[in-house]
Amino acid sequence: MSDDTAMSEREVMHLESSDLERMDLEVVDLDLDDDSDAMVHRVNGWLEAVLRSFHEKRADDEHRAKWVAALRADGSRLRGVYERGGLPFATDVPVATFSHLTKRLNTGSRQLPVRMITDVTVAPTHRRRGIMRRLMTANLADAAAQGLPLAVLTASEGSIYGRFGFGVATHEDAVRIDTTSRFRLRERPDDGERIVIVDPDASDAVRTAYERFHEVTRGSLERPAYYEGWLRGYDWEEQGEDRAHRVAIRLDAQGRPDGFVAWKFKDAGDHREVSVGDLVGATPPARIALWQFVADLDLADIAVARTANLDPLPWAVTDPRVITTTGRPDHVWVRILDVAAALSARPWFADDEVTIRVRDALGHADGTWTVTASGGTAVVRRSAATADVELDVEALGALYLGDVRVDDLAEAGRIVGRADGIRRFAQLTDGGPTPHCATHF
Ligand SMILES: CC(C)(COP(=O)(O)OP(=O)(O)OC[C@H]1O[C@@H](n2cnc3c(N)ncnc32)[C@H](O)[C@@H]1OP(=O)(O)O)[C@@H](O)C(=O)NCCC(=O)NCCS
Repeated sequence: MSDDTAMSEREVMHLESSDLERMDLEVVDLDLDDDSDAMVHRVNGWLEAVLRSFHEKRADDEHRAKWVAALRADGSRLRGVYERGGLPFATDVPVATFSHLTKRLNTGSRQLPVRMITDVTVAPTHRRRGIMRRLMTANLADAAAQGLPLAVLTASEGSIYGRFGFGVATHEDAVRIDTTSRFRLRERPDDGERIVIVDPDASDAVRTAYERFHEVTRGSLERPAYYEGWLRGYDWEEQGEDRAHRVAIRLDAQGRPDGFVAWKFKDAGDHREVSVGDLVGATPPARIALWQFVADLDLADIAVARTANLDPLPWAVTDPRVITTTGRPDHVWVRILDVAAALSARPWFADDEVTIRVRDALGHADGTWTVTASGGTAVVRRSAATADVELDVEALGALYLGDVRVDDLAEAGRIVGRADGIRRFAQLTDGGPTPHCATHF
């Protein structure tokens, strides 16, 4: 029995193993550094299970190699759940997949290491038997045991993850922008900047611009390694080089990259559109200048972006109706695991002391906590004091990055307490910029 298998079996115990064993299932942690044929087949089967669940094409060899290289670069941990003895005709394909990696989150005042959970799938033949629940519960327990203050994920459906304590913590905008002559800025930014169109492999400059954005943007997550491939023009969905992919970089007055845009042109028949895949700017002038650049692209009437940070474009154009918001999907979901570590690492906006009762069915955040804030930071400790407000861990996750205000959650019945307690909690908690995350995972 290999060490991996032994470790998996120990963890299965932690996962209420008897249930999984009763289902004739075993949990295996895949070792990406193991080049044995057996492990390579397992990894390939794992990738196939993920692609199939998200209705993507089967991987070819190049795609698998790129994917594994990106997973390795991130130190991703892959877990699969297998039928004991293997599925008939598909021995190496797991019935469930789960993976995680660790990256830093900008909380608005600090960079905090967080667990990023992804590739959560269960085969249609095995769903609704509690397999995902067991994987998620064990993974969160492991993250807490490793000392990670919070976990994050993005959700394919809105009703899955609240039950595990994840709250919607950032949103993004889906937009259509009229880029005809109607698009005009009130004032063109003129801080000595310039924009240059670059080869897709100018990735050092793009990386520098992203890092500058990440360092100053509340809610931003460091990017996983697969972004490098994408920005070089590799289309992960189509599994091949996308030669329509273009990139431009913005340079500040000192010639340092502070933003970039990746786009491609599409002739949609009745109109010609620019599809903006990525537009990242470390400062408002950088973002405005990049949107102006998009509008300046000739032979197109409309720019479309599914995942934009518009801030502050609607206030910078002469006609705000050139921008149509077609959706405002939730993006990053936050799950607080260590209340003291997580809350003491975010900004606070009043000098006061408020005691909060947090309910958490999984136990990690459960308890009463006193937040003593002064000068923008807080000391947070367990407390026996009477709580001023009460909320569950999902609501606390939603509040964490400042995407929603205390009053909104109180009005929705998600924070309860006496009016004075809620008012003081709001003064302490609400403030700062709207968070934005430009990373998808
Ligand atoms: C989502 C998915 C992973 C769920 O796996 P599963 O093993 O069937 O989930 P479980 O049986 O452990 O369900 C746990 C709970 O979540 C609920 N749940 C599971 N999938 C759900 C869904 N799609 N929508 C709403 N609730 C869901 C279950 O009803 C159950 O609720 P309970 O706590 O009241 O009992 C699986 O359906 C899947 O692979 N879907 C396609 C890929 C996908 O969307 N993955 C999520 C990526 S973010």
